Amino acid sequence: MRSTRVLRQALSVEELNKIRVANLHPSIRKGTHFKEPLVVKNAYMQYIYDTSGKRYLDLLGGIVTVSVGHCHPKVNDALFQQAKNLWHSANIHLNSPVHEYAAKLAATLPGDLKVVYPVNSGSEANDLAVLMARVVTGNFDIISLRNGYHGMSPITMGLTGHSTWKQTAPHYFGFHHTMLPDCYNGLWAGCRDSPVQPDRKCEGSNCTSTHCTSADKYVQQLQEIFMYTLPQKKVAGFFIESIQGVGGVVQYPKGYVKKAFELVRQNGGVCVSDEVQTGFGRTGDSFWHFQDHGVIPDIVTMAKGIANGFPMAAVVTTPKIAECLTGAAHFNTFGGNPMGCAVASAVLDVIQEEKLQEHCKTLGTYMIHELNKIREEVPIVGDVRGKGLMIGIEMVKSKETREALPADKMAEIFEDLKNGGLIVGRGGFFGNTFRLSPPMCIQKQDVDSALETIRQVFKKYA
Ligand SMILES: Cc1ncc(COP(=O)(O)O)c(C=O)c1O
Repeated sequence: MRSTRVLRQALSVEELNKIRVANLHPSIRKGTHFKEPLVVKNAYMQYIYDTSGKRYLDLLGGIVTVSVGHCHPKVNDALFQQAKNLWHSANIHLNSPVHEYAAKLAATLPGDLKVVYPVNSGSEANDLAVLMARVVTGNFDIISLRNGYHGMSPITMGLTGHSTWKQTAPHYFGFHHTMLPDCYNGLWAGCRDSPVQPDRKCEGSNCTSTHCTSADKYVQQLQEIFMYTLPQKKVAGFFIESIQGVGGVVQYPKGYVKKAFELVRQNGGVCVSDEVQTGFGRTGDSFWHFQDHGVIPDIVTMAKGIANGFPMAAVVTTPKIAECLTGAAHFNTFGGNPMGCAVASAVLDVIQEEKLQEHCKTLGTYMIHELNKIREEVPIVGDVRGKGLMIGIEMVKSKETREALPADKMAEIFEDLKNGGLIVGRGGFFGNTFRLSPPMCIQKQDVDSALETIRQVFKKYA
């Protein structure tokens, strides 16, 4: 079924372009994905429609934001019902949606992760996590991974270890980036938690199903940050994305996160999992991907898919850590607004009712295996990785050197995929990884036809 309700008369492409040039910031213009930009008219579940009525399969899910499907009827209904009754109330009064949501969200998290602070974006969530890490430990320095992306506020620009996203103005200090434990491109190859392993064989001698010996070498690099960089080896916090998203769906050797968390805690720091892209069942085996690493973080940040694309985010932590901010007032005007909470609550219901986590596991595993067959057939596909419906396809000039496929080639393939009706994402430091993170309602027939288009387009450029 396709939604036909269009609330506003759409502007023509000429009018859009005129306003874009005159009134929108150039950074926004630069962000447009395609040479021939897609003018979106409406979207329903896993599909986007342009103004000519052409249908595209949204393999990026907004930007990993549309978790259960564009304009999902149950989520829309929750929003409309809430809008009729109460749009806005900040935490100066009590209202049901934020309380109901906090209880429901906390029930999805393990251990003592029971205290929710709702905010509006992933950057805000990470800002708050940095603040709590510093206040609760009394330490200042924060470690994150190279190639990680955590947001665009001054603090999260410091946390981000990816120069593409760093402006030349000084951003926050006190952030250190440790070596990226990358199983495919890193100094040491490794075994990862994915249905398929890299073509580059792990050199580890005693790897088990939960621990890759390459992890120890990367943890040694983290240890060196403590040795050389940190005052008295003290740290406030350590941040990871449980799979790097913007960085190109990078996965770490099994056991790295567990050992890194142990080291950070021994040195007085708290551990933060940024689940902005990986949360809410997308990776299939667990509701939160940190669970697959065998750890329970001290703080979890989440956004994007939390409310299916509605601006909403949250930080969840333990009662003990949460208490640290009560020494002074802390406030957020829109965080926990009734509409965001009603939508986010409906999203949790839909994930459960439609068994979307299980669906991600089955369909994602199938898709990764099929894409890996394409990798075997096509010389410019270097690696296929990921878990559930969070998938990366790294494109290379040569499988031997793993050198990135040049940007102009990537752009042509990207455009061809779009012309073939597929919207995919791009990521990785060199922009040479296609990212697939579709709405979790995507069906097998969508995947099969997408695989065929991908195979044909990739072969054309091989
Ligand atoms: C892992 C991760 N953390 C944080 C953010 C920042 O979220 P926002 O753009 O909502 O501020 C992003 C955005 O892409 C992200 O991918």
